[in-house]
Amino acid sequence: MMMLSRRALLAAPALLAIAAAPAEGLQAHAAAHGRFFGSAIGDAALNGEPRLRQRIRDECGIIVGESQFKWAALQPQPGVFDFAGAERVMAYAAAAGLAVRGHTLVWHEANPPWLLAALTPRSGERLLTGYIGTVAGHFRGRLAHWDVVNEPLHPEDGPAFGLRDTPWLRALGPRYLDLAFHACADADPGALRVINEFALDYAIDWQARRRAALLELLAALLARGVPVQAVGLQGHLDASQRALDQTVLSRFVADIAGLGLKVLVTELDVRDDGLPADFALRDAAVAAHARAWLEAVLPHPAVLGVLTWGLSDRRSWLNERFPRADGLPQRPLPLDPALNRTPLWAAIAGALDGGRGG
Ligand code: XIL
Repeated sequence: MMMLSRRALLAAPALLAIAAAPAEGLQAHAAAHGRFFGSAIGDAALNGEPRLRQRIRDECGIIVGESQFKWAALQPQPGVFDFAGAERVMAYAAAAGLAVRGHTLVWHEANPPWLLAALTPRSGERLLTGYIGTVAGHFRGRLAHWDVVNEPLHPEDGPAFGLRDTPWLRALGPRYLDLAFHACADADPGALRVINEFALDYAIDWQARRRAALLELLAALLARGVPVQAVGLQGHLDASQRALDQTVLSRFVADIAGLGLKVLVTELDVRDDGLPADFALRDAAVAAHARAWLEAVLPHPAVLGVLTWGLSDRRSWLNERFPRADGLPQRPLPLDPALNRTPLWAAIAGALDGGRGG
């Protein structure tokens, strides 16, 4: 039965396929409120971990490639596109009945060296719109969302709207955002167009500035007709951060929704490098922290769903980016290394159960 219904769903549009998860998994908790749950999938899981792939099917309704849809992967040389890695994500998703989100078209990281060398004020528009036309066109109709622009903010850099000083900003000015969103809308009008950003979570000054900058940027983009449709809150949380103010967070989500935009949690995970070694203690703190954050965000009907940045603690980018001083692996994700559910799993399930999606 399950196989038949999954197969039948392959013929359905990508967004409908989100409803196809088995009972009990986080997707089932999300779908009960019209939402999705999903996870990033890395090459290790795709290539060599069948049990993890099965658990992803059990828990998720949507996946996102951790690196396979970034510019360095898709166009390693000028004029040379390589969709093999991304198509492996697509094939796995199709076989498992999962939707896919694209991450990401424009970013200041994961760019091939040739691109950075070629990017000038003269060449910039052609490079940007040509790439997006080819890539978004290649996947046209097959992706639920695109992170059109990733991490555009860094108020400390100084330009208007808190924009980050990136190669794109230097070549094209703020209109690189306009160009990117329009090009994506032209090439794949059905994929939800997302601006994805991190460090918007806490009641501390530098993050307050980022929230204010994002709201100003969004208002300006919308005022000049840029077809942005949603904000992705990456949700890279820190269990030892005390300044989690649910009122501030909730108001921020309401402000985004007030602009007429949808909200997605795109990369949830909880670092624990500031906590003691004890696993049970860490797991409890991680779960409580995420639950408090999710309970401020999820009550807003504009929130479409949640993805974590990986599903199992077997592998997390946090161990490379923020290694613990004691050398122990972090516990940032809903499944432990043996693929058993952690307290964070229960926190996410519980928060999704209380959500008011729709
Ligand atoms: C990270 C990947 O997880 C790493 O494997 C890679 O080395 C660097 O990128 N925000 C994002 C993601 O939008 O693309 C990043 O992914 C994590 C932070």
